[in-house]
Amino acid sequence: MRMDLVYYPIHEFGPLMKGLVIGGLGIFHVFTAQFAIGGGMLMMYFQWLAMTGRSSEARTFLDRYFKFLVLLSFVTGALTGVGMWFTSIQISPRTIGLMIDEFHWLWGVEWTFFCLEVVAGYCFYRYGAELSDRARIALLGLYTVGAWASLFWINGILSWQLTPGEWTSGHVWKGFFNPTFWPSLFYRTVACLTTASLVSMVVINSFSDFDRDQRTRLINRAAMLLAPMATMPLLGLWFVGSLPEDSREWVLGGSIAMTLFLNLAVIASVLIAGYALVGLIRQRLYINGATATLLCVLAFGATAGGEFVREGVRKPFTVRENLYSNAIKPSEIAHLRAVGGTSLDPFPLRDADAYPNDQVRTGALVFRQQCSICHTPAGVNSLTGLTASWDTDQKRLNIAKLQRLKPFMPPFAGPPHEVEALVQWIEWQQSNKPAQWNDSRTEPENIARLASIQRWLDEAGTAPAKPHDRVSPKLAQQLSQSEAR
Ligand code: HEC
Repeated sequence: MRMDLVYYPIHEFGPLMKGLVIGGLGIFHVFTAQFAIGGGMLMMYFQWLAMTGRSSEARTFLDRYFKFLVLLSFVTGALTGVGMWFTSIQISPRTIGLMIDEFHWLWGVEWTFFCLEVVAGYCFYRYGAELSDRARIALLGLYTVGAWASLFWINGILSWQLTPGEWTSGHVWKGFFNPTFWPSLFYRTVACLTTASLVSMVVINSFSDFDRDQRTRLINRAAMLLAPMATMPLLGLWFVGSLPEDSREWVLGGSIAMTLFLNLAVIASVLIAGYALVGLIRQRLYINGATATLLCVLAFGATAGGEFVREGVRKPFTVRENLYSNAIKPSEIAHLRAVGGTSLDPFPLRDADAYPNDQVRTGALVFRQQCSICHTPAGVNSLTGLTASWDTDQKRLNIAKLQRLKPFMPPFAGPPHEVEALVQWIEWQQSNKPAQWNDSRTEPENIARLASIQRWLDEAGTAPAKPHDRVSPKLAQQLSQSEAR
């Protein structure tokens, strides 16, 4: 049987769940990046207003706003962008490897546009004041095209993770133009415009040399970029409608956390849109710095909620139906059930001597390989906490049938003795890690016990659980081939 399961060193973040580490940084990165993209569009609009004599304040605003944008999004955007690569290759090396293998040249294209954005932005920063109006708008146009195109390319890769659709390895374009590609591209574009517009209102309020009328006029112009928010409900429905049924059920009540975060995103967006459409666009009201900041915070909340849901509904996969979050492929489960995943793991346990016996050490390895991507031993979402009230047999049964316990977990990928080792590791911790711990393999019930666990593993099967136990024909075929081998 061909196995391309590769072991990577696994990084621990103590009590912090890995998803929170990536997610926290990612949300910040997305927000600043979307601000930079929308900012380009906003500046082109103001450059046009200035050139056509429609606004006498537009040019002053534009130059000041641009300095702010460069400072905020070039610096933090670049730092968090590098930070994203740095954390994600530690947390999900196999996923990142697959993404780079599959989309190598598309990453290159994305990167080229990103370079265009930075170079055009820098030229504008350095020479913008001396250039003619036509040269200025051309440069801003290049900046905007570069920024938006980098969104276009990265969006294809990120949406592929959620809905790879007809993709199979090698079919790059089928993966790239996947079912959620267009709705998420349009949705994000509107989000970019919204963020840029709201931030501009904070910036405009800081102009103490402008009188209130001048500021109001600028704010009303900037508010025009909020108008596309009216399309968000439709785009959102299109996106949710393009999700596979099981992911859709996650957000529509199947998972409390997902539903809550979706509601957070929707409510924050509705508040912003309501204020924008009624107050700023129809009644042409003024908005002060505090309110504008509050709206920015809401926009950040909406981005956070949306990103959380997008990452969350993919569970238990990092690339749907192709790679589980714990870096095991669906087609590898059957093999790992037969041979076990810990015996080949080349990386030593940290503080191996602190464990009381080999069985508990094996349990720690099982946890590290299969569970640590989503659980901590004793911090956020900890296994000791989640199973605190369960008795030993209950742990054995539930872990053997992991995907049935909660459908957003992958099937258990090891033989019965690895389930048992994991259970012992959990109970040893729940007993405050005593120096002596009985090795359950020495007990007379051991053989019968492993047989029960084997039966439970067989009953659960090797396919992921969906709310209705449906898998795509493609995955079903892969699984049956891997079991036959
Ligand atoms: C893809 C992420 C993911 C992986 C991998 C994963 N889990 Fe979970 N697990 C979750 C989530 C999310 C929950 C829900 C937590 C909650 O309900 O608060 C959960 C809940 C649990 C629970 C509590 C269930 C309940 O009904 O109370 C147990 C026990 C558990 N996991 C064990 C494991 C074990 C053991 C492994 C490794 C063999 C594992 N999980 C791997 C995501 C994962």
